[in-house]
Amino acid sequence: MTIHIGAAPGQIAETVLLPGDPYRARWAAETFLDDVELVNEVRGMLGFTGTWKGNRVTIHGTGMGMPSLSIYVNEMIRDYGAKTLIRIGSCGGMQHSVKVRDIILGMTATTLSTPSRGIFKEMNFAPCADYSLLAAAHRAATARDVAVHAGGIYSADVFYDERPDLNEQMTRHGILGVEMEAAELYNLAARHGCRALAVLTVSDHLLTHEALPSEDREKTFGDMVEIALEAAFA
Ligand code: ADE
Repeated sequence: MTIHIGAAPGQIAETVLLPGDPYRARWAAETFLDDVELVNEVRGMLGFTGTWKGNRVTIHGTGMGMPSLSIYVNEMIRDYGAKTLIRIGSCGGMQHSVKVRDIILGMTATTLSTPSRGIFKEMNFAPCADYSLLAAAHRAATARDVAVHAGGIYSADVFYDERPDLNEQMTRHGILGVEMEAAELYNLAARHGCRALAVLTVSDHLLTHEALPSEDREKTFGDMVEIALEAAFA
């Protein structure tokens, strides 16, 4: 057990899928995994371990934002031996070429700051995805005929943005979408020799102001989970 994860040693798999929302973790585990076991519910942050095509996998919530993700990912890597960590979540589209419902694979994650700022200080470290996971996720998305984009994303510190000029600069520099967690996941994976990727569904759009209708959310979220599972075990 750790401070924030009640799982016994060995109850967290080496491969972990990380939605922000703990109820999404439960839905994904119940929908896609066999032999599912609840392994954490400390502070309502649900985690489940089961098997997918015979492979052990944990699906565990992270909460919203990098400080929350950092707590769970640090404990999963340092105390439970997680090795492959894939964020599955939503993002806001930042290019006209990216449509609501599309999938974005985050090659790099730009930030204003991350919880690792104190280590890097004046250095601007470039958090990036694991290439083997990225390539496998791209193949999996293409095979299932899902519109997929691979490129830079922006991991913001705030959802309610008081600096629209920052988003404009991200769009101007080709960033595909904005979310709030991936950069610190990539930093932690780099620090501990793990593999990480963010697979994101475009749920809203900063340029067109469209939003994914709620009836479409389950289907697009399901595609994302299956792409992440196929990439993890490719
Ligand atoms: N996650 C989904 N949509 C988002 C947005 N517009 N900004 C930040 N995070 C998001």
